[in-house]
Amino acid sequence: MRGPPWTDFITLAIAIVLTPASAHGSSRDILANSASTINGIPFSTRAYWMRKANEALGDVLDDPCPFAAFGTAIVNHTDEGLGELVCIGANANRLTGNPTMHGEIAAITNCTAVLTDPRGRYKMNTTQALDAFTQLSLYTNAESCPMCASAIRWAGFKEYIYGTSIDTLVETGWGQIRVDSVEIVRQSFDLGHSTRLIGNVLVNETDPYFLWQYNPHQECPHGCKRSKGTCKRSK
Ligand SMILES: *[C@@H]1O[C@H](CO)[C@@H](O)[C@H](O)[C@H]1NC(C)=O
Ligand SMILES: *[C@@H]1O[C@H](CO)[C@@H](O)[C@H](O)[C@H]1NC(C)=O
Ligand SMILES: *[C@@H]1O[C@H](CO)[C@@H](O)[C@H](O)[C@H]1NC(C)=O
Ligand SMILES: *[C@@H]1O[C@H](CO)[C@@H](O)[C@H](O)[C@H]1NC(C)=O
Ligand SMILES: [Zn+2]
Repeated sequence: MRGPPWTDFITLAIAIVLTPASAHGSSRDILANSASTINGIPFSTRAYWMRKANEALGDVLDDPCPFAAFGTAIVNHTDEGLGELVCIGANANRLTGNPTMHGEIAAITNCTAVLTDPRGRYKMNTTQALDAFTQLSLYTNAESCPMCASAIRWAGFKEYIYGTSIDTLVETGWGQIRVDSVEIVRQSFDLGHSTRLIGNVLVNETDPYFLWQYNPHQECPHGCKRSKGTCKRSK
C-alpha cells in the first residue's frame, strides 16, 4: 500500500488509512493492509492486538461468540516488541443494563480504573490518567459508532484501529447510526490531540463475529457452532 489517501486536515495530522478497495465501499479486501507498517508498527503486531480485541469477548463476557460481539483492547505501543496491554473491554449492555456500555466505552472505563488503581501497576492520579490516553492505541474489532468514535477523540488516543467496517455491519443487517469514523475524526479538528485512524485491519478474522447474527446460513466464529439458531461455544 502506498501513502494514505488523505492526510492533514486543518491543523491536525490525521491519516486515514484505508485500502483502495475499501475507499470505494468494498471493505472486505484487506490484502493491501497486510504489508503495511504504519507509525512503525508492522502488520503482524496490529494483527496480534486485533486478535486480543476479539478475545476480549471470551475474557470479559465468558462467551466467545456473544450476539453483540464488540471487543476492544487498549495498548501502549513501546519501541520494542509487541507493546503492553493496558486493558480490555467488551460490549456490556446486557451485563450491566447500561445502554452506553459499548466495547470501546467499557474499555475506556476499565482503563481508567486500571490506570488509577492505587494497588495496580500504574498508580496514576486522575490528571495523569487523562494524559495517558494520548500515548495509547485502541483496537476494536468493528468500526466505532459515532458515540464511541467521539469518545475516542475526546480521550485523545494516539491511534484508533478498527476491523469490520460500519458498511459491512449495515450490509449484513445490523442497525447502525450511519456516520463513519472518518467523518467523526474529520469534524473533531477543534480538539487538542490528533488520532491516527487505521481501518479494515484483519477483517478476515473480525468479520466472522458479525456476519452470523442476521444470516442463518453463515458459519459461526471460531470456537462456536450453531445451536437453536444462535452461535454457542463449541465444547
Ligand atoms: C487473515 O489475513 C491475514 C493477512 O491479512 C493473515 O495474516 C491471517 O493469517 C489471516 N487469517 C486467517 C484465519 O486466515
Ligand atoms: C479490564 O481489563 C483487565 C486487563 O486487561 C481485564 O483483566 C479485565 O477483565 C477487564 N475488565 C472488564 C470489566 O472489562
Ligand atoms: C497528579 O500528579 C502530578 C505529578 O505528580 C501532579 O503534578 C498533579 O498536580 C497531580 N494531580 C492531581 C489532580 O492530583
Ligand atoms: C507507554 O510506554 C512508554 C515507553 O515504554 C512509557 O514511557 C509510557 O509511560 C507508557 N505509557 C503508559 C500509559 O503506560
Ligand atoms: Zn459504540
